[in-house]
Amino acid sequence: MLVTLTATLPADTDCRVYPIARDAAVDLPLESATLIAEAAKASRFTGDTGGWFELFVSEGGRTLRVVLLGTGEGKVADLEKAGGTISARLLTSGVKHVAVIGGALSADALAALSLGARLRAWRFDTYRTKQTEAQKPSVETLAIVTAESADAAPFVHADAIVSGVSFTRELVAEPGNILYPESFVERCKSLTDLGIEVSILDEKDMAALGMGALLGVGQGSVRPSRMLALRWDGSAGAQPQPLAFVGKGVTFDTGGISLKPGAGMEDMKWDMGGAGAVAGVMKALALRKAKAHVVGVCGLVENMPDGNAQRPGDVVTTMSGQTVEVINTDAEGRLVLADTLWWTQKTFGPKTVIDLATLTGAIIAALADQYGGLFANDDTLAGQLTAAGEATGEKLWRFPMGDVYDKMIDSPIADMKNMGARYAGSITAAQFLKRYILEGVSWAHLDIAGMVWADKPGTLHDKGATGYGVRLLDRVVADLLETA
Ligand code: BES
Ligand code: MN
Ligand code: ZN
Repeated sequence: MLVTLTATLPADTDCRVYPIARDAAVDLPLESATLIAEAAKASRFTGDTGGWFELFVSEGGRTLRVVLLGTGEGKVADLEKAGGTISARLLTSGVKHVAVIGGALSADALAALSLGARLRAWRFDTYRTKQTEAQKPSVETLAIVTAESADAAPFVHADAIVSGVSFTRELVAEPGNILYPESFVERCKSLTDLGIEVSILDEKDMAALGMGALLGVGQGSVRPSRMLALRWDGSAGAQPQPLAFVGKGVTFDTGGISLKPGAGMEDMKWDMGGAGAVAGVMKALALRKAKAHVVGVCGLVENMPDGNAQRPGDVVTTMSGQTVEVINTDAEGRLVLADTLWWTQKTFGPKTVIDLATLTGAIIAALADQYGGLFANDDTLAGQLTAAGEATGEKLWRFPMGDVYDKMIDSPIADMKNMGARYAGSITAAQFLKRYILEGVSWAHLDIAGMVWADKPGTLHDKGATGYGVRLLDRVVADLLETA
């Protein structure tokens, strides 16, 4: 779906969409204005956000499809949702050329509407070879009729977000036989064209650095592990210490020798959703030329059972020198992050580190698909993240941490074990990560296990990969690093 901005209504338009605020009068410049107004009223159309009233009328001797689209109070979230509704309703409707009549809506409002439409239109059809015509998207163009200019800042920003979110969704949606550590890295290499510095560690490099925890997780897989760092410096040297994003990139999580049950195991292709979000936000930041210095690091491994896989009870030594007793090989994400977090801090010297991980099933038990879990050693950072979540709709809820939880991962034979007791599983996982944060570094951990994949369509996504995290982190960069 190609979105264009145009000052005049394209001649090939076969569906006109009129945004209508809540309880606003319906008075369209069409021959059937009275019919439309009366029909909308009879159908209880009120202009509530996402409200939809569609009919066919005769206009200039042709049959025209007309839509009244509710935009509620006209806030950014209302317009995003309304835009999403356009795609949900029209994408496979048979309509080819949609025009949204922008009227008096601002560039901000129209950018939000087009963002919603584009995010909701994203599909992953790569492996579908037998779609019928009726299943394929019919909409080719979405013209926004307005006097605003396409290079206005809100549209440039929306473009970057759409590209970043789409990139994340693609990485998340790809199956484990296609997307594994090396192919994840391959897909990120072209980010250099945008000015991102890409660096890669292979297993030899990581062994030399002593990353026994990350390598231990990957040792049961024939797919070699990788560390991927993406650096964007749009600060012109003004920000010597970057903000660091760190992602869990388990490209498939079978659980290893502590094998997961078979039912639903296919979901574990998206156990790289944290790394996917990190790659996507880096792309968005580069595309919009963010005035910020940011590094995104992805720890990439596949967790498989095998003759060479690590065993429950194994003790591994992390790059930090701390040792871990691996009680459960399915608690692998924290092992990967232990070395990834340590290496990130030692290599890039960030003041602030934010990690994202599909880390625990327990966070889904607590929050379902409504909030990501937030854990932090810094109240200010936690507040900023919570605010960015509210602003973007990618919401977070903070959990407590503390010594009592920390003690739950003490081991009788090593410095720590990789799981706690039965309860507070998301918190003990966070306590584990905290042991790999250097003194003085401000840190937050986002457990996004409930957020990266959707079983049903939402306002801004279809079923499947959501791209959660890209908009949140983009906002964090804007709020923390780009306000003068
Ligand atoms: N990747 C899983 C967490 C997960 C579960 C994500 C379900 C999305 C949906 C993680 O590696 C894992 O297996 N965690 C274990 C930890 C436990 C063994 C301490 C869990 O949550 O059960
Ligand atoms: Mn696991
Ligand atoms: Zn996992």
